[in-house]
Amino acid sequence: MVSKAQPDDAGGKEPRGQWNSRIGYILAMVGSAVGLGNIVRFPFVTSSNGGGVFVLIYLIAVLLIGIPMVLAELTLGRRSKRNVVDTFRNLGNRRWALLGLFFIFFNVYIMAWYSVIGGWTLIYLLDGFSNAYFADPTSFFSAVTEGPRALLFHAIFISIAIGIVAGGVSEGIEPAVIILMPLLILVMVGLAIYGITLDGAGEGLSFYLQPDLSDVSGGTIVAAVGQAFFSMSIGFGALLTYASYMSRDSDLNEDGVTVGLSDTGVALLAGFVMFPLLGVIGILGTAAVAEGGIGVAFLSLPVAFGTIGGTLGTGVAVGFFFLLFAAALSSAISLLEVGVGWLTDRGYARWKSALVLGLLMYCLGIAMAFSSPILDLAAGALTDVFVIFGALIIAVFLGWYYERYLDEDPGEEMDRGAGSIRLGRASYFMIKWIIPAVLVVLLSLAVLNVAGVEVMSGA
Ligand code: PHE
Repeated sequence: MVSKAQPDDAGGKEPRGQWNSRIGYILAMVGSAVGLGNIVRFPFVTSSNGGGVFVLIYLIAVLLIGIPMVLAELTLGRRSKRNVVDTFRNLGNRRWALLGLFFIFFNVYIMAWYSVIGGWTLIYLLDGFSNAYFADPTSFFSAVTEGPRALLFHAIFISIAIGIVAGGVSEGIEPAVIILMPLLILVMVGLAIYGITLDGAGEGLSFYLQPDLSDVSGGTIVAAVGQAFFSMSIGFGALLTYASYMSRDSDLNEDGVTVGLSDTGVALLAGFVMFPLLGVIGILGTAAVAEGGIGVAFLSLPVAFGTIGGTLGTGVAVGFFFLLFAAALSSAISLLEVGVGWLTDRGYARWKSALVLGLLMYCLGIAMAFSSPILDLAAGALTDVFVIFGALIIAVFLGWYYERYLDEDPGEEMDRGAGSIRLGRASYFMIKWIIPAVLVVLLSLAVLNVAGVEVMSGA
């Protein structure tokens, strides 16, 4: 990912790495953004929140809140050239650094469930060879996604991520993203076109595309903003960490917009794959969630593989899950790198840092590998709380404290190095006056939502 140490132009003591090339870091950021969030979590939250209306609010959230927040996070990382905790210490003070520690905690938490689902992609990849889930996707899903096998593959997934991060975020990510990401998109376009021709697909499409405004509630907005943040990797310190390896005159506007829009494109495409297929099996909306929880995508996809049939069906299944696994892995690497970047900056060996954090993530994931209700809560409503909180810290810091501490205009800093796209001023306005207020309200709703879910599942 990054070349060997370069002098640190932020005035720090330690020499730090830099990205080898602009395309390299854009690809790594796209690799971080595009993952299980787009292909697994997006269909799940769309199903639980009324379909089309959720998609509409999601798109508004991406444009008005997501893009300014991407820019904010990148700006902080590029300015400080430090890991997330020390960014808050260096640009702010020790109290802010304590808040920075929350990001390490979020990442451990998120990775716990992320790796459990990453493990499922491996199970589906291997069992695709024997067409094990083509005939009865629902029974297969409940048999393998909860229990010892899920735990084993959680362990395998996290070990692979630890191995890659321990070796230094690999040079391999760039070529992998260049080749595998377009292939994933190609296979998804093929599946979407195929799925739409099947009987019953129309119902799925209209669930996905026709907004019914009477369905909107506070919960819909929480879920849409939470999903936009999660999918674009906002509020974790991951973009911040990657941006800390950039030079100060890189064009954050163009890069941020590229990452944000490509991520959103892949999520929308995933909807075009999943919803027609869910329509074919006749489980849309909350019915789909009742059957599959966060795994609704794993119920719909086999429909396509099964009806394609033969060697081609097997090949598409195996190929798809391989590509999904790769996309999940490139996101997982960036999640793990946040904590590892912090520990290595504190002088710990990279492999030790990756191992210790990875083990914590593994342990936290054990309960989730054994209980789908716990997993659904952890990956759904509770994740919304964390990402909204993470984004709020970043927004308040940039909007209200940056100028005070550094005596620099954050809007100008955002636009430093920008070409024709200059969103710094408008983003700063949003981040100062609108976004924190919106996020405080949404955070309160998100917390209530979690309490509600617990009451329901305890009933
Ligand atoms: N954005 C990733 C996804 O959609 C998840 C992620 C979040 C990865 C934050 C890294 C940091 O799957």
